Amino acid sequence: MKRRTFLKATSLAAAALAAPGIVRAGAEKKLRIGTITPGSHFWTQTMDRVGVSLAEKSGGKFETQVFPSGQVGNEATMIQQIQSGGLDMGFLTVAEFSNRLDDMAALFTPYLVPDVSQASRLLTGPTATGMLEQYSSLGMKGLGFGLGGMRHLISREAGLTSADLAGRKYRITPFAPLRDFYELMDVAPTPVPLPGLFDALANGQVDGADIDLELAWKLKLYDQAPNLTITSQMMFPVVAVVSGRYWAALSDSEKQMLSESVAEQIDWLFAQYVEFEPKWLNDLKGTGINVAEAAPDFFGDTVTKWNGIWEAKAPSIAALRAEAKELT
Ligand code: BEZ
Repeated sequence: MKRRTFLKATSLAAAALAAPGIVRAGAEKKLRIGTITPGSHFWTQTMDRVGVSLAEKSGGKFETQVFPSGQVGNEATMIQQIQSGGLDMGFLTVAEFSNRLDDMAALFTPYLVPDVSQASRLLTGPTATGMLEQYSSLGMKGLGFGLGGMRHLISREAGLTSADLAGRKYRITPFAPLRDFYELMDVAPTPVPLPGLFDALANGQVDGADIDLELAWKLKLYDQAPNLTITSQMMFPVVAVVSGRYWAALSDSEKQMLSESVAEQIDWLFAQYVEFEPKWLNDLKGTGINVAEAAPDFFGDTVTKWNGIWEAKAPSIAALRAEAKELT
């Protein structure tokens, strides 16, 4: 199993590399973090940076190991491991948690924010920060929400309107709020794990995908689905959670170091998306694929129907909407 280990990233780290035994003996706390994303993805890099930051802040007391690409299991398994103490921390999709905490669906409310810049502000605002407390009901401490890109549609066929989507198969990340969104359009939502998505588009297993610009670019999905509709219908948040047992065993100053490291590196993550989203869009346009922009009415009455289902199940929708309005 591959692991990425971080010691204090200063002269002490240099000494550690030369004589690892010396610093490893000094590292009193191990922190094992799991993510589903590969090493090249910004989420994994954020956790790599938490490891470096924590080693620096603690003078080498914390030794962090990041397990990317679901090496310690899929997200459902990682959640179980965090609950049992088998894994200390996760940087996991809020999508997976929305299968356990209905109110997390509020963060997928269609057209809550228009772009990653406002999404970053909403995810660090009072409502989202308050929602972190719900993770205690799962035996975890929620440390902070981060972000993936806004969601769009990529399709094999050109010139599709939302009416044309009916009867087609679109890849989704499997979680109830998104499944509902596609089913309301009579689209067959088809769960395909990210590593299999390029092939699923190539062999017609799916007609298109609900995706962000980072994945459309980095997984080269444009080769098989050369039609991108910029819809920006939802955010795709990620959450840093630490096992309740692990958290309880930390001293106050250790809790502060961990919280600060996570908050600082999530700020770095937000900055990456704000910088890179326009670049990925330019890169995608540069491949010669068809890129069209679509306003919310592209989805017809789907958004209204979605709100009708989820406003009752996810009470934070109202507060998030009110806060989002103030961001403009
Ligand atoms: C997705 O399922 O689309 C996804 C998963 C992890 C990170 C970003 C996107």
